[in-house]
Amino acid sequence: MKKPLRYGLIGCGGFGRFCLGEYQRMPELTCVAVTDNDEALARKTADEHHLAFCPSVEAMLKRGDIDLVHLATPPFTHMNLALAALEAGKHVLCEKPLALNVMDAERMVRKAQERNRLLTVNLIMRHNPLCQAVKAIVNSQVLGAPLYATLVNAAQDENLPPAHWFWDPAKSGGIFIEHGVHFFDLFEWWFGAGTLLSAQEIRRPGTGIVDQVHCAVQYGAMTLGTFYHGFHQMRSRDEQSWRIIFELGTLTMSEWVPTCMELDVTLSNEGMETIRKILPDSEVRVTDLYFGNDQHPSSRHRNRSVDLRAVVSAGAGLEKKALYGRMVRDLMRDQISAIGNPGRQRMITEANGVSSLAWAEAAHQMAGQRPLSPVP
Ligand SMILES: NC(=O)c1ccc[n+]([C@@H]2O[C@H](COP(=O)([O-])OP(=O)(O)OC[C@H]3O[C@@H](n4cnc5c(N)ncnc54)[C@H](O)[C@@H]3O)[C@@H](O)[C@H]2O)c1
Repeated sequence: MKKPLRYGLIGCGGFGRFCLGEYQRMPELTCVAVTDNDEALARKTADEHHLAFCPSVEAMLKRGDIDLVHLATPPFTHMNLALAALEAGKHVLCEKPLALNVMDAERMVRKAQERNRLLTVNLIMRHNPLCQAVKAIVNSQVLGAPLYATLVNAAQDENLPPAHWFWDPAKSGGIFIEHGVHFFDLFEWWFGAGTLLSAQEIRRPGTGIVDQVHCAVQYGAMTLGTFYHGFHQMRSRDEQSWRIIFELGTLTMSEWVPTCMELDVTLSNEGMETIRKILPDSEVRVTDLYFGNDQHPSSRHRNRSVDLRAVVSAGAGLEKKALYGRMVRDLMRDQISAIGNPGRQRMITEANGVSSLAWAEAAHQMAGQRPLSPVP
């Protein structure tokens, strides 16, 4: 068995600590040390997890017993920390977004190539089994073409006081860049190349804070995608919904880390078999059976051949936090198995980090070109 990779955490905030807890469960990793600008927080994290405390990033990067660092600091710090870590010969798992803009992200990628180190980005969504099922459904074409896909994210902002770095685009990049990259990456993975059609932003009245963004993208010849992100809800009202309308059915999911999926489909018996193979643990409820002429309806000026309508429910038993943790571990496992084995295909690469950022940067700029809404 390969020796475990030795890991150091830079940034002991909410997400860095969550990932650390997950990584400590992985036999492929030995967690060694932590650091943070906030010394008290770094010491507390080190004590709680029985790890070494490093007084600074420089001190951590000098350690010979660390192979890979996880950058879990705010976005504006990613580029310089990644360049320093790569220069010091460490592999880097960088939090999303890879950087604040594509130019900086490409600089990071070049440095990783120069130093022959792994650089990757923690875009975990592709490791969600339901997101993988969407990919399989799209690829199989069992539901025909995807025509419309939308994500509506009405997120809580209880943990985001006005002075939080999240609201400052110079630190976070803004909502499309800080948060939207997850979903730009996923839609591109599902639907292929696209074109940004429009983007909008809304400022919270009486403040400079942009708390709502929206954009529309066309994928290929016929898929329209839209993304809405608003950070304005009470914790108890935090909600996300996904909807994909195909020619032969509609797929819905809820939660930003989706934990359940429902399909309402009208299919032939063979089509239904394909769905059952893609979602083997799903529950299928047949709601209609078709006979005679009813088996040959048409849509989009094409004849269809159908035997039944059914509602398919998948994801039973997935609990959000446990699933989130599993996705975090699966991404890390996939990445480290590529170290020393460069031919191995990874689920997510730094190129996806750059590409998702290109979408987000374009949407950010397009939205910002609109005149600002008058402040009442
Ligand atoms: N992949 C995901 O699903 C996911 C989820 C949540 C957050 N994130 C990302 O993780 C990153 C951190 O988010 P968070 O919510 O944990 O933020 P946070 O503010 O809770 O934590 C950031 C920590 O970094 C420290 N820090 C800042 N600059 C530093 C520096 N130069 N050197 C050392 N420490 C420094 C801060 O003191 C703080 O403790 C962000 O990029 C965010 O987008 C990713």
